[in-house]
Amino acid sequence: MNETLERWSSRRAFILAVTGAAVGLGNIWRFPYITGENGGAIFLLLYVAFVVLLGLPVMMAEILIGRAGRRSPMQSLGHLAVQAGATPHWRWLGLFGALTVFCILSFYSVVSGWSIEFLVASISGGFVGASAEEVGAGFAAFLADPTRLTLNHSLFLLMTMLVVAAGVAKGLERLNNLLMPLLYALLLVLAGHAATTEGFGSALAWLFLPNLSAFSPLVMLQAMGHAFFTLAVGACALMAYGAYMPDHQSLPRAVAAVAVLDVTVALLAGIAIFSVVFAQGMDPGEGPGLMFVTLPVAFAELPGGALWLSLFFLLLLLATWTSSINLAEPMVATLQGWGLGRIAATAVVGVAVWGLGMLSVLSFSSLAEVRVLFGMNPFELVSTIPPELFLPVGGLLIAVFAAWVLPEPVALRALGAGTGGFRAWRILVRWVSIPLTLVVLASGLI
Ligand code: PFF
Ligand code: NA
Repeated sequence: MNETLERWSSRRAFILAVTGAAVGLGNIWRFPYITGENGGAIFLLLYVAFVVLLGLPVMMAEILIGRAGRRSPMQSLGHLAVQAGATPHWRWLGLFGALTVFCILSFYSVVSGWSIEFLVASISGGFVGASAEEVGAGFAAFLADPTRLTLNHSLFLLMTMLVVAAGVAKGLERLNNLLMPLLYALLLVLAGHAATTEGFGSALAWLFLPNLSAFSPLVMLQAMGHAFFTLAVGACALMAYGAYMPDHQSLPRAVAAVAVLDVTVALLAGIAIFSVVFAQGMDPGEGPGLMFVTLPVAFAELPGGALWLSLFFLLLLLATWTSSINLAEPMVATLQGWGLGRIAATAVVGVAVWGLGMLSVLSFSSLAEVRVLFGMNPFELVSTIPPELFLPVGGLLIAVFAAWVLPEPVALRALGAGTGGFRAWRILVRWVSIPLTLVVLASGLI
């Protein structure tokens, strides 16, 4: 074990860092639009079930591996595998994770760039008095303009890479400390306001009264993928953070706190967004633009709306920033493990992600009709397959490694929950999480 590795300064700092990775576009942008496309409550129900049965136990597995290895994901996996008498090829799982986050960060950066545009527009009063149609038309015009998308994407990626280059632990703790409570409070205000609007009842019904006829194996697959995505599990990104976790901290308690926070943020955002959707007679299955065309309308109804809207986009930006820093970490750590310096590794990752991200940028104009695979354009492809397929497959392998390959004393110690807690976790992973992931993957693919 490498005793000189830097550690998070406190238990709270670790929880905040993992929350920073978890809470992001997945909650506020992706959750509402995927839920809207997949029948509402039935999707929500499946997603929450998967968070509990798969997301949480696998999240513990992933962080536990990093904590036991105290190295970069690839090195931790290889080292622990050899120690356990298993094949060192397990380290390739770390590379698979790096590939997954490579694809995810490429579109994540582009969409986060949309928040920069909306932040600037809301500060300059661009949404004052705008109707839902006007906001929608403005958004469509923005998407069709590759220059503006490129600018925002580049800016966001630069912001991310600057923090990554400086080393994660230091840059992140402070930021997270002030950001999360504020974002939470603002969403509470927004959901509270939604309760006074006419769309509220329909929004609650849509979110909480499942329509069983909307169920399909594909909805299940998407709900599973989203559970992994929103918790930042399955790409070895949290494994990297686990390496910095203090020795005496209960992992189950820490991740349970994160999951509760993550799910509530998504619910609050969902309530706010769907209240506007139903009040305005919009289509819940509107797609990736859903959040961007509903929230400006929601805020416009509040006194001092332009100010609140600006604050919201600022906080959203900070939330996506901490998530994207986490997304970059496995790639940078992998390159560092191959002997590159931190700055050089960050630069390589930044340039590569920027390039792939350009395909997403152009997917809203010149490449919109280009069908790369499964009838999807580049943006649709990178925002669907990695979250819905790569993360669950990665999570599955992570779970197998932690619950079947790691020797009991090593896993027991790294979980930090005593023997009883360890047994319960292992039974859950071995007999529920792993089989369930396999079944959902298989049924979704067929
Ligand atoms: N959890 C982040 C979100 O909900 O926005 C996205 C994410 C971060 C996914 C890190 C995967 C990951 F490794
Ligand atoms: Na999330």
